[in-house]
Amino acid sequence: MRKRVLFIASECVPFVKTGGLADVVGSLPKYFDQEAYEVRVIIPNYMCIKTEWKEKMNFVTSFYMDMAWRSQYVGILELEYEGIQYYFIDNEYYFAGDRPYGYIHEDIEKFAFFSKAALSILPIVDYKPDIVHCHDWQTGLVPVYLKDSFHEGEFYANIKSMMTIHNLKFQGSWNIPAVQDATGLNMSYFTSDKLEAFGDANYLKGGIVYADLITTVSRTYAEEIKTPFFGEHLDGLMRARSEFLYGIVNGLDYYEWNPETDSMIYKNYSVDTFRKDKVKNKLELQKELGLEADKKKMLIGIVSRLTDQKGFDLIDCIMDELCQDEVQIVVLGTGEGRYENMFRHYAWKYGGKVAACIYYSDELSHKIYAACDAFLMPSLFEPCGLSQLMSLRYGTLPIVRETGGLKDTVEPYNEFKETGTGFSFTNYNAHEMLGAVRYAESIYYDKKRSWNKMAERAMNADFSWKSSAKQYEELYEKMIPQD
Ligand code: ADP
Ligand code: GLC
Repeated sequence: MRKRVLFIASECVPFVKTGGLADVVGSLPKYFDQEAYEVRVIIPNYMCIKTEWKEKMNFVTSFYMDMAWRSQYVGILELEYEGIQYYFIDNEYYFAGDRPYGYIHEDIEKFAFFSKAALSILPIVDYKPDIVHCHDWQTGLVPVYLKDSFHEGEFYANIKSMMTIHNLKFQGSWNIPAVQDATGLNMSYFTSDKLEAFGDANYLKGGIVYADLITTVSRTYAEEIKTPFFGEHLDGLMRARSEFLYGIVNGLDYYEWNPETDSMIYKNYSVDTFRKDKVKNKLELQKELGLEADKKKMLIGIVSRLTDQKGFDLIDCIMDELCQDEVQIVVLGTGEGRYENMFRHYAWKYGGKVAACIYYSDELSHKIYAACDAFLMPSLFEPCGLSQLMSLRYGTLPIVRETGGLKDTVEPYNEFKETGTGFSFTNYNAHEMLGAVRYAESIYYDKKRSWNKMAERAMNADFSWKSSAKQYEELYEKMIPQD
């Protein structure tokens, strides 16, 4: 019989996405050995999911679930898409609004509801998983509930849990009385060996403590989070659980992200034709965004959530200097007001040279990955990062800081050996970053053959899910009792 794995997560492409978590949850399930594993996925039925998807969903049933002192409506919708069975938990009160996340005190109750509902629907849809695979703090309570309210029923006995940390920074932390009220968990759970951390209740901690295995999204990040700088105050816990902690680097959906077939870009190209055709994407993008149309100018791209994590203070520090160089910069992102305004400011100051697209657009992101020569990602920390993988796939050379998954996926250029797929720098320092960008500029302008060779290596590098999906399978096997 096929082994059953259930993904529970708060976002998933193509239905709803705020960042790389959605890319992972929406692609990894497709890459398991379909003969050996049956993988299903549960996410919330947010109001903001596009109507085109909602129209395709089928209503299964609904019921009322006890949630502390409340009795809450749980609707179940289902949809099969690209061979994967998806379930959507419906509740108009919790999943209203124009985005998946809002105020933390609301999210705390929302995801307690979601975690419990996800487990509650399983007997109804007649799916008993061997493993529930949880993603980030929003599902941290799933392993806790499995050991708590669901422990006694025979249906749930022997279900194992895996907790994947996509970003340790976000933990779902709130005051204990409110969390107790939202979750209905007994007070005995709120001690420092369980959910309590620094006086508050912490969902991610709950997941890490109660899951059978823990993973994170690159090997380097798995090591980094055992140290105080990256550990976000949970480094002690990460060290204590290190025997159960694994780092598996993310992959990319190579069907969706393929310059040869991508219908969103201006001109398709492959590793054989990029030398002549990739530049057509640059020219069209320059025209579309009001940049000076010049196919020779080095175009540097940024596609990102605009938050501290991504190193934008470094960029702010050297932007005036960088703009004296022969480069153009295009930014696509939303997030903290100060970074949104910072890029708007530079676009105004350096019109024709800097373009700031302060919004979310899947289509424009594809165009940028295809059109740019280089991609800048100087993150302070980066659990894995998918943007640099997309860039590599499109022959757009990443310039990254050596941290987390960036370190594990971008091989720095070595001009003596003619190896490498991008450029990197070590310290979180603006001028060290500028040095790396200027080094890239010198190769781009003065050693075009080497640049193109590097782009070829980048496009040939394999960051599909093939090898990482296998590593997850090995961990699943470790958890499932052998018969
Ligand atoms: P994180 O998950 O920390 O945001 P990742 O690099 O793992 O970082 O994933 C970011 C994902 O979100 C990529 O698929 C990237 O293309 C996408 N993305 C970020 N900002 C935008 C935006 N404004 N418009 C479209 N896609 C975006
Ligand atoms: C998080 C991390 C990012 C990672 C993504 C998917 O959002 O910030 O580095 O790639 O999750 O795992």
